Amino acid sequence: MAKQRTPHATSRPTPTLQDQLPELRAGQSIELLKELHILTREGKLNQDTRRKLKQVYHLVQFIEPLLQEALDARGDVALADHGAGKSYLGFILYDLFCKQRPQGWVYGVEARTELVERSAALAQRLGFERMGFLACTVAESLTHPALPATIDLVTALHACDTATDDAIAFGLARQARCLVLVPCCQAEVASVMRQHKALQLSRTPLAELWRHPLHTREVGSQITNVLRCLQLEAHGYQVTVTELVGWEHSMKNELILAKRLGPGHTGKAAQARARLQAILDELGLQELHTRFAV
Ligand SMILES: C[S@@+](CC[C@H](N)C(=O)[O-])C[C@H]1O[C@@H](n2cnc3c(N)ncnc32)[C@H](O)[C@@H]1O
Repeated sequence: MAKQRTPHATSRPTPTLQDQLPELRAGQSIELLKELHILTREGKLNQDTRRKLKQVYHLVQFIEPLLQEALDARGDVALADHGAGKSYLGFILYDLFCKQRPQGWVYGVEARTELVERSAALAQRLGFERMGFLACTVAESLTHPALPATIDLVTALHACDTATDDAIAFGLARQARCLVLVPCCQAEVASVMRQHKALQLSRTPLAELWRHPLHTREVGSQITNVLRCLQLEAHGYQVTVTELVGWEHSMKNELILAKRLGPGHTGKAAQARARLQAILDELGLQELHTRFAV
């Protein structure tokens, strides 16, 4: 006798891409993920791209609530991503947060014109109308007419060398609510330490910390981020420093999150300013006063 098909078997829904790829979030643009090479042309994740998606989500999970806070506070929100590269972060944030709302602007600032042109074309193709891309340096973006006066969030993900410092200067000038920074190597502090090494070694045993060339680079990089945090605190921000997990392959996985505090925190800011100046003096870095202490 022929076997009867059970109704259960016939009513099983065809698996969607979302079922097959549980990493994806509802409504996420498959076309965008393919364009960003997070999904292959066949719409699949491989080991590398799965990791990339995990990394981006990890960062997005910090940023989405900050976008929401700004939106709740002033009815709109604008984010500037400095040293945007291919604008992975900006595109994913737009897709996940702005696309489903009538508000929300994402600007990518990138010195390489060809990357900016590619991102602008992709945004147009996807209908991401509230994205803007500026072909200029972070420093130049301070006065760029295409950027609105109010920028709520500043991000800089592995923006090279002093571009992170310029992004901080930008955030301070715009009184951004939050800055989310994952710094890259900064050579400037280490170079000043190297220049005055002999003098500092004769003056203080502390200079042993950067006597060896490898230590000069490492301590220089560490001091840079310490100065950046104090600078932000001196301007009334609350700073947390954590590790960007899922970024294990990169040595540069320090995440600096700064949130602007309301009035009434001037005491803490004054203390941070004094400490910042004391560190510059103690380490012989006075010439970096204009970078960190103004
Ligand atoms: C390591 S990539 C990171 C790109 C992107 N943020 C990411 O994480 O995928 C650094 C990018 O910053 C850009 N860049 C470096 N210095 C810059 C500056 N001063 N102003 C604007 N862009 C800069 C470079 O052209 C490069 O695209």
